[in-house]
Amino acid sequence: MYSEKVMDHFTNPRNVGEIPNADGVGEVGNAQCGDIMRIYLKIDGGVITDVKFKTFGCGAAIATSSMATELIKGKRVEEALQLTNQAVVEALDGLPPIKIHCSVLAEQAIKAALADYYTRLGIDPEPLVGKIPNGCDHCVH
Ligand code: FES
Repeated sequence: MYSEKVMDHFTNPRNVGEIPNADGVGEVGNAQCGDIMRIYLKIDGGVITDVKFKTFGCGAAIATSSMATELIKGKRVEEALQLTNQAVVEALDGLPPIKIHCSVLAEQAIKAALADYYTRLGIDPEPLVGKIPNGCDHCVH
């Protein structure tokens, strides 16, 4: 059902944890399925120098968080804003259709963290990041 990469990132997730003095923190979740994802960003000169995540959720949510953090580490914030859930899914060699929505949580958590970063800088994040919907609407366990 799951690719080797998904299993690898689920059983050995990268960048798990917190960053105490993060420059941006984003949390998205869904009260119905109970899955919550929090992303911490350390940003220096517009570059994401460190990223950590905590995900309380399904295996696909953990694997996509792990891969998403790998994909934005070392990137400029503008590049990280372009990250789509499809790119995360492709990097994981696919997800079962019923689990695609879990990858949306990773994209949204990164965008929420970047929105927080812009807000702290006194910049209105909405024109750059868009509206952050609060989690996936169709989680089914
Ligand atoms: Fe996977 Fe909710 S994020 S079931």
